[in-house]
Amino acid sequence: MKNYITHDEWCIVEEGFHPEHNEITESLMSLGNGRMGQRGNFEEGYSGKTLLGNYVAGVYFPDKTRVGWWKNGYPDYFAKVLNACNWAGIEIRIGADLLDLNTCKIDDFKRVLNMKEGVLDRTATVTLSGGRKLRIHSKRFCSMADDEAGAISYSMVPLNFTDHFSITPFLDGNIRNRDSNYDESFWNGIAHEAQACEGYLVLETKSNPYQVEQFRVATGMKFDFKLNGMPAEPAVQYIAQDKYVNGSTQLEVKEGQELTIYKYAVNLSSANYAHDELLPKAKAYIARIADKGFDRMYAEHVQAWAGKWEKNDITIAGDVAAQQGIRFNIFHLNQTYTGEDERLNIGPKGFTGEKYGGSTYWDTEAYCIPFYLSTADDKVARNLLVYRYKHLQKAIENAAKLGFSEGAALYPMVTMNGEECHNEWEITFEEIHRNGAIAYAIYDYTRYTGDESYVTDRGLEVLIGISRFWKQRVNWSEEKGQYVMLGVTGPNEYENNVNNNWYTNYIACWTLRYTLEVIDKLWKQDSRKLNEVIFKTNLQLNTELADWKHIVDNMHYPFDPNRQVFLQQQGFLDKQLLTVTDIADQRPINQRWSWDRILRSCFIKQADVLQGLYFFEHEFDAGAIRRNFDFYEPMTVHESSLSPCVHSILAAGLGLREKAYEMYLRTARLDLDDYNNDTEDGLHITSMAGTWMSVVKGFAGQRVKDGVLSFKPYLPEQWQGYSFRIGFRGSLLKVSVSKGSVSIENVSDSGITVLVNDQKVFVDALASVQL
Ligand code: BGC
Repeated sequence: MKNYITHDEWCIVEEGFHPEHNEITESLMSLGNGRMGQRGNFEEGYSGKTLLGNYVAGVYFPDKTRVGWWKNGYPDYFAKVLNACNWAGIEIRIGADLLDLNTCKIDDFKRVLNMKEGVLDRTATVTLSGGRKLRIHSKRFCSMADDEAGAISYSMVPLNFTDHFSITPFLDGNIRNRDSNYDESFWNGIAHEAQACEGYLVLETKSNPYQVEQFRVATGMKFDFKLNGMPAEPAVQYIAQDKYVNGSTQLEVKEGQELTIYKYAVNLSSANYAHDELLPKAKAYIARIADKGFDRMYAEHVQAWAGKWEKNDITIAGDVAAQQGIRFNIFHLNQTYTGEDERLNIGPKGFTGEKYGGSTYWDTEAYCIPFYLSTADDKVARNLLVYRYKHLQKAIENAAKLGFSEGAALYPMVTMNGEECHNEWEITFEEIHRNGAIAYAIYDYTRYTGDESYVTDRGLEVLIGISRFWKQRVNWSEEKGQYVMLGVTGPNEYENNVNNNWYTNYIACWTLRYTLEVIDKLWKQDSRKLNEVIFKTNLQLNTELADWKHIVDNMHYPFDPNRQVFLQQQGFLDKQLLTVTDIADQRPINQRWSWDRILRSCFIKQADVLQGLYFFEHEFDAGAIRRNFDFYEPMTVHESSLSPCVHSILAAGLGLREKAYEMYLRTARLDLDDYNNDTEDGLHITSMAGTWMSVVKGFAGQRVKDGVLSFKPYLPEQWQGYSFRIGFRGSLLKVSVSKGSVSIENVSDSGITVLVNDQKVFVDALASVQL
């Protein structure tokens, strides 16, 4: 755990430079706008520990799979999120010195990510050779208003000297992924152009044998200068070569004068523009934003952020660390995914690092959808569902590669384009519970929005494909006289190749049940529509539905009759049952123990049985949830960031308030305090939605019951109060919880009935109730 980030309600502050943590800070201070993003690197470059990172949404490379021993069924490639052209670079020389915070003396330093405004702000005073002191101030953002653009303002004041400054803004496409299987570069240069204060590069991903689209990205820059607030127009010399362009200028800056460089940049991808349009459109875009200028771009960007905060801010009174933590999570979720484009998704690292490859995991459905459902227009969550709908054919092909047939669909564990990319057999082949989360998200969306059109128009086809997979994946056990599911990995990846993982069996049968329910309902409401789906999917009503029902009625669920708990898998009780307190000095076990030892141990990486009880809480009584919680929580090491939030929500529901708060803290400040020692790789974006859920679903007990929004709020004793915004079926509410009172303010113009502690409460448009 690290504790060098200053607590502040709206800002992430590094006070004094911490070079040893630089890669962590770069992750924390990443910027993004849903279309592009970058780590919090220094514009002038840095020769110390740094991971330079720039990313363009949806742009990836199919990196050839690397495994020790090839197994049939492995995917050919692992799609890597691509580290793209560095557009923020400005090389600076003062006299003979190259400005580099790794080599000069730093007198003072402050790096601030202002989350309210979405801007990275850095001030520093450094001493160069000969005792020359220089003051630096940079501001940078990825515009939320012009979402293919970013802008930088970079100022310098020589405090005690006059000298020649050489300023070289550049675009650099000579970038390699740190996460590359064969240490190859993934980009080719296609075009380069520079003139006066402008430069352009068009890069293309290298060709590949997998018929995966080759992406082109056009990056453009334009820059100008001010000296003491007045436009300066020094002569600029430029270089344009393969994958690198710059424009360089020299000018004398006198002691006390302020030189400011404004750099505007755009990234346009072939996902959105035809190849021959890329360069002209990039030029037009650059001209437009440079014309606006930094201040106006910035004002529009801040206004766009204000609109987002208006919908999804959470305030916490009396605990600055908690306030900072929750805003940090909400901020990064908004930077990663805006829901504008149904081809995009939410990568576990977003735009903050390269690890984890592809952009889409079950994390989206299991964790992120509830956040976007409550804090954004319905279209945003719907787009996430449409993304999977569009990948249905690929999911059917994925299943076929593993030997399934007749329209059975297996969604990938990791993907960019619908094809499976993950290449560890125990995950690719066995961690099939992911399929269930995709079905669950359809249910979750429908339950929350009341919009049945998605499930009937598109979702049912997905449900049928997934149900067919479960049907073929189970087998009848003569010995048990029940269906079993063998050789799986549950959400707890610290056990592989287990039989009858309770969670997987449960979500499989739940999917079959839900699919049958949807079919039945549609039959009654719109049989013509149903017939269309039957025709399209070639659904065999007589046989398939009966088979599914038979599985639902006869599935094996491992259970311990003595403890009255569900068993994570059939052999779980053969393990030596210890608790995490027994191994307190050996954690995290994934960094200290051999894999073999982990697999044989009882220790649980992340919520597994408890994940199921969280999803299907309404199907279990509180006693069952409590018994399972008491059994599994002491064995859970939470070495996946996705875990503590589920435990926090369950604990809150069970009245275990201390536990709920302890788990909340772990999720809220996971990256800020580097709990798992891995923030330098990038942030845990998807689990950030879990943090939001811990407050809204945990402390405030938000659920949807029979189409009605329901709350059971309480105030953690560490806080003086908290409030959040939540949208539901056309209404927008502000819920505030303080000691002894709950207030619900309806800030929209449509009245709504909600349940508070199971009592119906009507909140009129633009009115509020105090409880
Ligand atoms: C977790 C998975 C998760 C993945 C990406 C892994 O560590 O075990 O459940 O999907 O990270 O977040």
